[in-house]
Amino acid sequence: MFSYRPPPVMRIGSIDLPNNLFAAPMAGVTDRPFRQLCKRLGAGYAVSEMVTSRRELWASLKTSRRANHDGEVAPIAVQIAGTDAAMMAEAAAYNIDRGAQIIDINMGCPAKKVCSKWAGSALMQDEPLALAIVDAVVAACAPHGVPVTLKMRTGWCREERNAVRIARAAESAGVAMVTVHGRTREQGYGGDAEYETIAAVKAALTIPVVANGDIDTPHKALEVLRATGADALMIGRAAQGRPWIFREIAHFLASGTPLAPPSVLQARQWMLEHLGDHYSLYGEQAGVRTARKHIGWAVRSLPGGEAFRAHMNTLESCASQLSAVSLWFDALADRYERLPLCEVAANDDLVSLRA
Ligand SMILES: Cc1cc2nc3c(=O)[nH]c(=O)nc-3n(C[C@H](O)[C@H](O)[C@H](O)COP(=O)(O)O)c2cc1C
Repeated sequence: MFSYRPPPVMRIGSIDLPNNLFAAPMAGVTDRPFRQLCKRLGAGYAVSEMVTSRRELWASLKTSRRANHDGEVAPIAVQIAGTDAAMMAEAAAYNIDRGAQIIDINMGCPAKKVCSKWAGSALMQDEPLALAIVDAVVAACAPHGVPVTLKMRTGWCREERNAVRIARAAESAGVAMVTVHGRTREQGYGGDAEYETIAAVKAALTIPVVANGDIDTPHKALEVLRATGADALMIGRAAQGRPWIFREIAHFLASGTPLAPPSVLQARQWMLEHLGDHYSLYGEQAGVRTARKHIGWAVRSLPGGEAFRAHMNTLESCASQLSAVSLWFDALADRYERLPLCEVAANDDLVSLRA
C-alpha cells in the first residue's frame, strides 16, 4: 500500500525549507537561472555550482557569475571546493559576504580538475584533512549564524566506504546536514547508485541526511526514501530539461498518483522565461552558447527533438534562439496538448514512451 509521511519540518540549522526535495549542485548546469526554475517548479532547496577556494580565481567571470545571487529565492546555498582548510574558511566568508546563507562543502565531485588538486571526493581518502576543512569552515561560518553542510560519496573505493565515519565526525564538528551520493569516487557516474551506505549514514546521525543518486522518477524517489530512511532527496541529472520533476515527485509522495505531464504551452512558457533569465546572467554571446544544452535537454525526449537540437547549434543570437524555441513549441502544441514525454533515465537512455 502507498504511504509516505514527510518530515514535519525540513530544516538546515535554523533555516526552514518548504519541502524535502532538493536540486543537486551541478557545475555548468545549476547556475542561478536554473536554480530559480527548479525552485519555482517544486524544489524546496537548490545548491549553487561549486565555487573554488582559490582566491586568485574569484574575480574571474566564471566565479563572479557563480557568486551572483541577485534576486535569488532564499535560502541561498553556496558550495565551496578546495584542499586547504584556511582557504576554504576564507572562501566561506567571501561567499557569506556575497549573500550565502548556507555553505556546502564539496566532498563528492569526482571531476579530475577538482581531484587532481586533492579536492572534491578525493578528500574522503584523507580523513584528517577532510575534518580539518570541516572544522575550519564551521568556525568561519558560526559567527554569522550560517549553517555548514557536507556533500560526499559513499567512500573512496568499494573497499573504503568510509561515509559513516566521516559523517559522524562532521556531525560532531557542527555540520548541520549531510548529503550522500550513493557511489564511490572510483565509480564516477558508472554503475548504479547503492542506498545501503546512505541508510547506514542516516542510522548513525541525528542531523538530516539527504539521499542522492539515480533518482529519476517519482516511483524511484519513494523507493529511495524507503530504502534509506533519508530526510530528503537530492536530484541532479533527472532535472536537466525536466525541472518540473520536483513537483511530480511531491505530488506522487503526497497522493500516490502520478501528476500529468505539463501542457506544451506551459513548458514553452517556462523555457522562454528560463532563457530570458539565462541571457540576463550570461549576456548575448555566452548566453546563446550555454543555453543550447538546456534547450537540448528540454527537447531530447520529445518527437523531433534531436533534429531541433542540431538546428540550435546553427543559431547565434538570443533573438533567433528565442524565436526558434517559441515556434518549435507552438508546432508541438498543434499536435499535443501535454508534453508527449519519454522517460529519460539518469544515463540518458530512453526507457519508455508515455505519450
Ligand atoms: C554535470 C554535472 C556537474 C556536477 N557538478 C557537481 C558539483 O559542482 N558539486 C557536487 O557536489 N556535485 C556535482 N555533481 C554531482 C551531482 O551533484 C550528483 O551528486 C550526481 O549527479 C548524482 O545525482 P543524480 O543521479 O541525481 O544526477 C555534478 C554532476 C553532474 C552530472
